[in-house]
Amino acid sequence: MGNGRTAGRVTERGGQERRAYRLFVVADQTALAKEAAERCSQIAQEAVARAGRFTIALSGGSTPKLLYSLLAGEPYSSRLPWQETHVFWGDERAVPPGDPDSNFGMAKATLLDRVPIPADRVHRMQAERDDLDLSAREYEAEIASVFAVPPTGDPPSFDLILLGLGPDGHTASLFPHTEAIRESARWVVRNHVPKLNSDRVTLTAPILNQAATVLFLVTGADKASALQAVLDGPSDPERLPAQLIRPTSGLLIWLVDRAAAGMLTARAE
Ligand code: 6PG
Repeated sequence: MGNGRTAGRVTERGGQERRAYRLFVVADQTALAKEAAERCSQIAQEAVARAGRFTIALSGGSTPKLLYSLLAGEPYSSRLPWQETHVFWGDERAVPPGDPDSNFGMAKATLLDRVPIPADRVHRMQAERDDLDLSAREYEAEIASVFAVPPTGDPPSFDLILLGLGPDGHTASLFPHTEAIRESARWVVRNHVPKLNSDRVTLTAPILNQAATVLFLVTGADKASALQAVLDGPSDPERLPAQLIRPTSGLLIWLVDRAAAGMLTARAE
């Protein structure tokens, strides 16, 4: 797997131990979507072989669109175990599912409407409602019921969580200097984002860090300085929330294209 340049490494810097991550640098968006599709299908098959089901949380924004389209077509649409797959979201905008800004809407159009996944395996965040605190609690309860765990206990472990990176260092809807980045117990919360003058519903660091695999997908030169700061800069999760993502025992993979990797220090292994 991985026909791009591969670099994996353990970063230790200034006495601060950083959790190991794998960094894969590929040529461009197309190569990235293909690499990600290969990984998704492999992780899905292994999860079903191990536990009889595959649980994934999708990311929103524009970067994963190509991946979702690829997964909806051959060979991936036949390779993924849709009947045994549960699809969740990492975050959602406060809009109805049919809105062009809806993360659910994007995944539905590019992937879910085109593959044989049972409707009751698609777990949408109801972020169009007035009471987003209630929507967040209900989403926690839905996660808990699928994983058959109490909603107030330790968060369960998703097989795979896809994440993106904003130019400001945010991931999911964990934006710099917002309340949700300080959450240490809840799995899902409403997060008010002043710079967007809007609320979001988002998974929190405690549940994101419980995942078996966290796969960041990052493309484009506009992400280069944020990526460099997150991976090479000092630890400052308040300013760079993507630094909060340090899986407790799972794998952390950064899959980025050359443009996004443009400012990273030399990675040759
Ligand atoms: C969202 C996302 C968010 C996204 C980044 C990157 O709802 O916007 O979940 O965290 O991943 O903003 O977005 P792009 O892929 O559009 O650059």
